[in-house]
Amino acid sequence: MSNYHIKHLEEYYQVFRKSVRNPENFWEEIAEEHFIWRKRWDKVLSWDFSKPEIKWYEGAQLNITENCIDRHLRTRGDKTAILFEPNDPSEEAEHITYKQLYERVNQFANVLKDQGIKKGDRVCIYLPMIPELAIATLACARIGAIHSVVFAGFSSTALSTRINDSECKIVITSDGSYRGSKTIDLKSIVDEGLEETPSIETVLVAKRINSEINMKEGRDKWLQPLLDKASTECEPEIMDAEDPLFILYTSGSTGKPKGMVHTTAGYMVYTAFTFKNAFQYRENDVYWCTADIGWITGHSYIVYGPLANGATSVMFEGVPNYPDWGRFWEIIEKHKVSQFYTAPTAIRALAKENLDYVEKYDLSSLKVLGSVGEPINDEAWHWYDTNIGKKKCPIIDTWWQTETGGIMISPIPYATPTKPTYATLPFPGIQPALMDENGKEIKGNQVDGRLCIKFPWPSMARTIWNNHDRYRETYFSAYKGKYFTGDGALRDEVGYYRITGRVDDVIIVSGHNLGTAPIEDAINEHPAVAESAIVGFPHDIKGNALYGYVILKETGEGRDQNNLRKEINQIITEHIGPIAKLDKIQFTSGLPKTRSGKIMRRILRKIASNDTSNLGDTSTLLNPEVVQEIMDNVL
Ligand code: WTA
Repeated sequence: MSNYHIKHLEEYYQVFRKSVRNPENFWEEIAEEHFIWRKRWDKVLSWDFSKPEIKWYEGAQLNITENCIDRHLRTRGDKTAILFEPNDPSEEAEHITYKQLYERVNQFANVLKDQGIKKGDRVCIYLPMIPELAIATLACARIGAIHSVVFAGFSSTALSTRINDSECKIVITSDGSYRGSKTIDLKSIVDEGLEETPSIETVLVAKRINSEINMKEGRDKWLQPLLDKASTECEPEIMDAEDPLFILYTSGSTGKPKGMVHTTAGYMVYTAFTFKNAFQYRENDVYWCTADIGWITGHSYIVYGPLANGATSVMFEGVPNYPDWGRFWEIIEKHKVSQFYTAPTAIRALAKENLDYVEKYDLSSLKVLGSVGEPINDEAWHWYDTNIGKKKCPIIDTWWQTETGGIMISPIPYATPTKPTYATLPFPGIQPALMDENGKEIKGNQVDGRLCIKFPWPSMARTIWNNHDRYRETYFSAYKGKYFTGDGALRDEVGYYRITGRVDDVIIVSGHNLGTAPIEDAINEHPAVAESAIVGFPHDIKGNALYGYVILKETGEGRDQNNLRKEINQIITEHIGPIAKLDKIQFTSGLPKTRSGKIMRRILRKIASNDTSNLGDTSTLLNPEVVQEIMDNVL
């Protein structure tokens, strides 16, 4: 394989030092390894974090699908690229070889072209975890259209906000989806979402559940007949290195979701490099990431990273508890999975169930276990290590973000000694810094602070769609000349990092980022609500759950509180999706505010978390008396 397949700790440090001493040379060597470049770059990197402007491999031309698919045809044409495991275990798994993937992606790309989609157009993909999702994504990349995948658990309002923000021309969806024992009527969510989306001309509909659905004349088209007619050859569109590859929305502390824009060459190089090293993938391994392609983890580590390495990537349609809590382990045994990548929230849920579910299955194929999306607590880490890895599989606790495009801090299995709850060391090329509240970098070890990155890396998001000012404000203004992650972290005595959690108003619930502002905006639409504040509190499976403090208008005061709670959660479900529902809703006459009118969430967080021993100084509040009232009525 390549020069940079790191296999022991000394080698890691060597490579790391080199990547810091001479980053351009380092990333040039990696790009030279084995990708297909239609034209070589003129310049590896140019950057200015004050603008901010970041360009990697400028002047280069390529197509990412040529690298993820075509490049493997000669040597791996009959190897499974995507291994689709359906929701229902009695339905047969589908092995899509590289050759078949090539044909299906090309057919899909030709269908998109026939629908008038061209390079640079935005395509919204709102699909469940079926092969069409991966194929549609790659088909966009084939023709240079910018995909915007929206997680199919989002509501119709969330879908239309995202469509309108980036003015997508087309939506790709399905009649419905399976989720455990339930079916979800996806198409009617789309119909609702499209009521006010003027840019949408066409909806392509894949058949999955064979339900009776409404097809709007002139707009909606069944996908399969179009695919059947399409050619299996489609010349890849030749893209410039910095042409956008996709937009993916992520929650911010305030305002509407941010459409993070990722570009072509740097994203490809970085996801390929990190996939290879983080998972130590070998030719006949079967790799499985349980994320949904609707999130960045699925983009980078179900689709692009694995395929760029010619890997076999499992795509699972279902849920961990259907038909029972043994499903994950059954799939690992059945497909002899070697690398398994999931989220702490899933691990905690699985750990609550009887160990018999695990012990029934042969998990001896496993070599590496991964964790992503939120801090993994000590208990979950040890459960994973003992019962799934049988203490033989290194756990890679991978820290990264939608914005970073790929894994940033993580052990390299079999090279970096792991330490429970620590993401450990930065990947080669990544230069973290911990900052204090005055904007100074905290040097040395055994310190904690706010996590920044000092130097660009190839897969960083380049902007927020249509809002470059917000991009600068959010990531490059808090600490001059540095990318600010929004996370807090500590560095231990040997330089290992542990991520301690968000330091802004983003709350991670079951591994999903949720901004408080959009939830509060949704609640405030309820006619009986005057004002609200959302905070997170610890939850033993979800990591965090949401606690809402709600002030009612006079009209709401006589009303049944449980009904109101239901209605509030209903509004949240409609505006955002069920993932943002509140676990607890406390009605209150006021919210603690500073003299400038800012809600003191710190106090609300402590009360919701039952941690009131040290509330700090409340005397400077505009209304200190309300704190006692809230404490007296806490749920
Ligand atoms: C959190 C997911 C601790 C973090 C890839 C980050 C983590 C946010 C970890 C990004 C981890 C992700 N340990 N925290 N291993 N991985 N996070 O954009 O707060 O969905 O900023 O990307 O998740 O979430 P996102």
